[in-house]
Amino acid sequence: MPIAALVGTQWGDEGKGKITDVLAAKADVVARYQGGNNAGHTVVVENVKYKLHLIPSGILYPGTTCIIGNGVVVDPQVLVEEMRYLHGHGVSTDNLFISERAHVIMPYHKVLDRLEEQARRLKIGTTGRGIGPAYVDKYMRSGIRVSDLVNPTRLRNRLEDFLPLKNRLLREIYGHPGFEIDQIVEEYSSYAEVFRDRVADTSLLLDEARRSGKNILCEGAQGTFLDIDHGTYPYVTSSNSSAGGVAAGLGIGPNHVSSVVGVVKAYSTRVGEGPFPTELKDAVGDLIRERGQEYGTTTGRPRRCGWFDAVMVRYAVRINGLTGLAVTLLDVLDAFRSIKVCVAYEYRGQRLANFPTDLEVLRECRPIYAELPGWQSDTAGAQRWEDLPAQARDYLSFISQEVECPLQIISVGPRRNQTIVMAEVFR
Ligand code: GDP
Ligand code: IMO
Ligand code: MG
Repeated sequence: MPIAALVGTQWGDEGKGKITDVLAAKADVVARYQGGNNAGHTVVVENVKYKLHLIPSGILYPGTTCIIGNGVVVDPQVLVEEMRYLHGHGVSTDNLFISERAHVIMPYHKVLDRLEEQARRLKIGTTGRGIGPAYVDKYMRSGIRVSDLVNPTRLRNRLEDFLPLKNRLLREIYGHPGFEIDQIVEEYSSYAEVFRDRVADTSLLLDEARRSGKNILCEGAQGTFLDIDHGTYPYVTSSNSSAGGVAAGLGIGPNHVSSVVGVVKAYSTRVGEGPFPTELKDAVGDLIRERGQEYGTTTGRPRRCGWFDAVMVRYAVRINGLTGLAVTLLDVLDAFRSIKVCVAYEYRGQRLANFPTDLEVLRECRPIYAELPGWQSDTAGAQRWEDLPAQARDYLSFISQEVECPLQIISVGPRRNQTIVMAEVFR
C-alpha cells in the first residue's frame, strides 16, 4: 500500500509543514526520517500558527500516528517542550512514537555546535541546535541512543564511556567548563520519563501499518541542497534529507516507497551561508522577503531570496526521483509585473544545463533567465486550477516543463484550504 515521501527540493523552508498537514488528512501515519529540531515546519489551522521542529506535522490530526524515526536526532529537552506546547493547544501526543534507535542530542552537542561554528574559518551558519555534532558521534559510534536514554544505568554507562573525552575537548580546546555525569543523568532521565512509554521499534510499527494497507507519509526536513551528499557541501546539514534518506531513516524497504512529492517554492530562499545563483540582493528580493514573510521559523534569521532556479529543481527531480511537484507560496508572486526563471547557468562563456558539483564553479555561475509576464492579481482565494489567472498557470506549466516533473499540488496561502490538489497522493 502507498508509502509517499515528501521532500524539500531547494534549501529548506519550502512549505513542507503545510503540505504534510494537507496530505495528513488522508494519511494514517506521518514519519520524520532525518534531521532534528533544526527544522521549523509551520502549519496554520484555524488562526493558530503551529511551529513544529521535531514532531511530525501530522500530529494535528487526532487519529494520525506520528513517528520520529531512527534517522532523526532527538533533543529530549526540545521533545518534551514541544509535547507540552502541543498539549497547551489541546493537541494530544498519544499517537506519537519515537524510535529506540534514534540518536540523542546531548547538551555537549549543542555547546560544541556553537563553539565549532565560532572557531571555524569557514562559517556554515548552522542553527546551533547540536545537529552536526550529534550525527558526528553517531558515525563515530560514540552516540547515545533513545534506548540508552530511557535506562538511567545505561545512560550513565554510556556517559562514562564518552563524556571524559568530550570534556577534554571542551576544556582544552575551547576553554569551556565541561559537563558532569550526575547532572546530565538526572536532567535527561527526567525528560525520558515524559516519553518513555512512547519509545518503540518504529520500523516494526511502520511495517505493520504498511501490511495492513495504511497510508504512510514520510516527512522530510531541510531540502535537497542541504543534503550531506547531494547538497552544496559544505554548506549543508549533516543528514540525507533527500528521498534516499527515507528507507535508512525509517527502516523500510526502498521498494515500498511508491511516490515522492517535491515541495518547491515558486521562487528560491536560503538561510545560512553558501552560494545562491539566483539570489536578489535588491528591492525585488526585499519584496519577496516581505510578501513571503521570509524569516526563519527556527532562528528568526531573514532568509535570502531569489528567483526560481530550474537548474536546481531539475537536479532535485533527478536526485529524489520526484513523481510530482507541490508548488508553494505562489501568492507571493502576485505583486510582480514580470517574473524570472533561471533555465540554465552561464559559466565562463559556456551554458550549463546541469547543477555543478564544484562550489567554485557554482560561485561563478550566472543565471540565464527566461522572463514571464506576471499576473498582478490575487491568487490567495483560488480553489481550482481554473481559478488561477492564465499567466499564473503559464508560469507553473513553464516550470513544470523546465524541470520535467508534473504539477501535483499548488499552494496559494498558508492555510489548509488554500491548496489546489491536481492529483491525489493518497486515494
Ligand atoms: P518548511 O520548513 O518547509 O515546513 O517551511 P516553513 O514553515 O519554514 O516556511 C514556510 C512558510 O510559508 C511558513 O510560514 C508557512 O506558513 C508559509 N506558507 C506555506 N505555504 C504557503 C503559501 O502557499 N503561501 C504563503 N503565503 N505562505 C505559505
Ligand atoms: P526546514 O526543515 C532551512 C540550514 C542552516 C545552515 C545549514 C546547517 O525547516 O526546511 P544545521 O543546524 O542543520 O547543522 O545547519 O542548514 N538549515 C535549514 N535551512 N530550513 C531548514 O529546515 C534547515 N535546517 C538546517 O541554516 O545553513
Ligand atoms: Mg522551515
